[in-house]
Amino acid sequence: MTIAIASDHAGYKMKVDIKNFLEHNEYKVLDLGTKSEESVDYPDYAQKLCKNILEKKAEIGILICGTGIGMSIAANRFKNIRAALCHNKTTAEMARLHNNANVLCLGARIIDYKTAKECIETFLKTDFEDNGRHARRICKIDNIK
Ligand code: RB5
Repeated sequence: MTIAIASDHAGYKMKVDIKNFLEHNEYKVLDLGTKSEESVDYPDYAQKLCKNILEKKAEIGILICGTGIGMSIAANRFKNIRAALCHNKTTAEMARLHNNANVLCLGARIIDYKTAKECIETFLKTDFEDNGRHARRICKIDNIK
């Protein structure tokens, strides 16, 4: 599985650690920047990552900024992107089970690396609970005008 990852300056350090962790666990990682702690604008990176997901260059995306909020707001502007801001194993699990989230957003100034890793492990191992009800609700989201 290929995982796309991107951050702004606030999430840069955590991105480096997560990228190493994922590669160590045999995942293919598509690193879309940023490349340092120099200040950048998070919407640019959210956009880059979402485009790569929609073009099927990766199956799952991970976006990291200071709070995770800006990245999630930006990513959810894209149709067929379901970006979930998660803070722990439970939110990461529910994001996959009920929301079929394809992008995980993390706040590097909010959670520590251990918690981020738990969110990622849970997100990656949990499948969508495709029982009709959740799919219907996601379909309703897609049809919001
Ligand atoms: C950058 O200072 C900060 O605003 C950004 O990383 C993020 O938290 C926005 O939601």
